[in-house]
Amino acid sequence: MSNSDALISRLHELQTEALDLVASAADASALEEARIAFLGRKEGRISLVLRELGRIDPSERAAVGAAANRVKGTVQAAIEDREGALAAVEAAGGVALDLTLPGRRPARGGAHPVAIVMEEIWEIFRDLGFTRARGPEAETEWTNFEALNTPLDHPAADEQDTLYLKRGGLLRSHTSPVQVRTMQAYEPPIRILAPGWVYRRDTYDPTHAPVFLQVEGLVVDEGITFVDFKATLAEFARRFWGPGTQTRFRPSFFPFTEPSAEVDVKRVIEHADGTVEETDWLEIMGAGMVDPAVLEACGIDSERYTGFAFGMGPARIAMLKYGISDLRIFFENDLRFLRQFGPDGRGGTPA
Ligand code: DAH
Repeated sequence: MSNSDALISRLHELQTEALDLVASAADASALEEARIAFLGRKEGRISLVLRELGRIDPSERAAVGAAANRVKGTVQAAIEDREGALAAVEAAGGVALDLTLPGRRPARGGAHPVAIVMEEIWEIFRDLGFTRARGPEAETEWTNFEALNTPLDHPAADEQDTLYLKRGGLLRSHTSPVQVRTMQAYEPPIRILAPGWVYRRDTYDPTHAPVFLQVEGLVVDEGITFVDFKATLAEFARRFWGPGTQTRFRPSFFPFTEPSAEVDVKRVIEHADGTVEETDWLEIMGAGMVDPAVLEACGIDSERYTGFAFGMGPARIAMLKYGISDLRIFFENDLRFLRQFGPDGRGGTPA
């Protein structure tokens, strides 16, 4: 390597060192020290290198001189930048404020998967003309059972199953009492959807929780038939689970409906590779034609009006929808689980 090449590479090393020192200078005096150490006329390290210029071939001096000027210029510019930054920190009361940094994005909270499902159910029934209704969580025996054609000696009303309150009344064991309150307060036509918490003396296990969400639906009007009932719930199922979804109404029993049915769906799942899978029949709700005795108990003329009702558990629907086998995960608030529901924009900031 010629002498001039050696000097130029030495200059570049000095530049690197100088820039490091300038960047870490914590205040104006440290910065001045760095300036003197590298750019000082007499003892500055860059000036000292230039003093060796006399020892190299005159034809190469110009190249070394030009390199030295570039390095000096770069170091000088860095010093000025740093001066500006330190002055800004001082102006901000000593707090480092870098206006070029991107803003900090506040973490966005997300909807819980059961809340997402609840909202999807609501939006479908809203589009079918339902309005939202609500009722109290502390209920009477009459609204929770008797008005719903369920005598108090029915097993559901047993203390084994229902949480009674010390001063009378109980925690509602289903959202069906909202049917009663709605029929008492409004004349038909009635078309409501009532979501809410319900309470049962159940052991906390993979499919039971002592408190959970239900959503109740009720339609009462002149001329409501079993066809309206089946068509409305089949339409709900197709909108919720997809157009290929089949529905099955399996005979069942509820004290407040006659006839009663359990509604099952058979889903068609299209996989990413194009294959199509049909699920087994999955039970999604209890339902039926409102028993005339219930209409009468609520002051509605059962000769003139008929209706249908249904009740389902959004957590159960969410388990079927997302393939979850233990509902306790819904209550644990584990962010690794909850954040998976983010991508649709309703579940918050993805991890
Ligand atoms: N109340 C029922 C339960 O808690 C669910 C239900 C079934 C609601 C049939 C209804 C219905 O309105 O018609 O299990």
